Amino acid sequence: MSFGDYQIALYLGALGGVLPQHPFSYAELEAAALAALPPELRTYVAGGAGDETTQRGNATAVDDYAVVPRMLRASESRDLSVELFGTTLPSPLLMAPVGVLGLCSPDQHGDVHGAEAAAATGVPFIGSTLMSDPLEDVLPATGDTPAWFQLYTPKNRDLAASLVSRAEAAGAEALVVTLDTWVPGWRPRDLASGNFPQLRGKALANYTSDPVFRELVGPDADVGTIVMTWVGLFGHPVTWDDLAWLRSLTDLPLVLKGVCHPDDARRALDEGADGIYVSNHGGRQANGGGAALDWLPDVAAAVGERAPIVFDSGVRTGDDVVKALALGATAVAVGRPYVYGLAHGGVPGLVHVLRSLLAEADLLMAVDGYPTVADLTADALRRLR
Ligand code: FNR
Repeated sequence: MSFGDYQIALYLGALGGVLPQHPFSYAELEAAALAALPPELRTYVAGGAGDETTQRGNATAVDDYAVVPRMLRASESRDLSVELFGTTLPSPLLMAPVGVLGLCSPDQHGDVHGAEAAAATGVPFIGSTLMSDPLEDVLPATGDTPAWFQLYTPKNRDLAASLVSRAEAAGAEALVVTLDTWVPGWRPRDLASGNFPQLRGKALANYTSDPVFRELVGPDADVGTIVMTWVGLFGHPVTWDDLAWLRSLTDLPLVLKGVCHPDDARRALDEGADGIYVSNHGGRQANGGGAALDWLPDVAAAVGERAPIVFDSGVRTGDDVVKALALGATAVAVGRPYVYGLAHGGVPGLVHVLRSLLAEADLLMAVDGYPTVADLTADALRRLR
């Protein structure tokens, strides 16, 4: 079975009178999802920082590159598997951590559904700190597929340690520490609509279920107390001085998210990180920067074979996945598209998004003569602009 076989299933389904229920283009997917989401979530999911130049640039930067077609290398089977921290994954695709995923399902259990989609597809799920269900209910739902946990480092070190040890106990196979969000970026769409779900007490289940947090707020805390306590401790401004302590919290592979400079990548590995996650948070945090993809080649050159590199921000198609791999990523995470898949079509909609990305990547590799991920070197791309 190849990932590309998804298209055969779709054509055969149509022959049997069943047309696909879910969109194929990102534009249609986004429109369908935004129509399904409640108004207070629309700007939060779709919007970004500033005038969103960086967010738009993330999605168009890949157009600067073309995959070079190579013929007479056709291979009926492709191998998209990659190795990450000693685990062989069926594909290089991951689900990026998304803090309001839980709310993007009408039943408010979107985090569990993300994990269920991981179980159904083999695409690992990175659970955010900001969940609507406690991580103990979410991470195990990935079944045999790996789950990772993403930490927003709180100011309270005991709380950080508690969250990490809970994630480890719940089966997380890696810890992702996000570095670019200790303070929220300037998000005009959310500011104009007064949207910030956490300030309404949403997506805080990992805090309200945490013994350290509960101790801080007391036994009968109301929503106001919970929210104000959370505001006070959410974002520790992480510096190099914190890295040894973060490293000491777990034996799990430690992946630093938001690293975009080669010097930062080198030093992070020198000081104990196991993986580098190149991302600009989908353009939600700092506007005015380049596209995340623009930083990837230099980081990849600095990291070399020392550690795996995860990339996200702007991945919309299977072609984007292929290009990011050729530019040096070991694995590629998808963000908004899978959130929209869930919002529009529940778990089947989310699974459709993942299968479509994988099928498109697989078929591009098939047609253009790159049967394995290892074949996707810099030579597979031509820079057009
Ligand atoms: C995010 N992202 C994010 N990242 C993180 O480390 N922890 C989090 O809780 C969240 N929450 C979150 C919510 C929403 C609504 C979005 C859209 C994104 C960032 C995410 O992991 C990833 O970096 C981006 O989604 C990549 O950009 P695109 O490809 O989705 O545009």
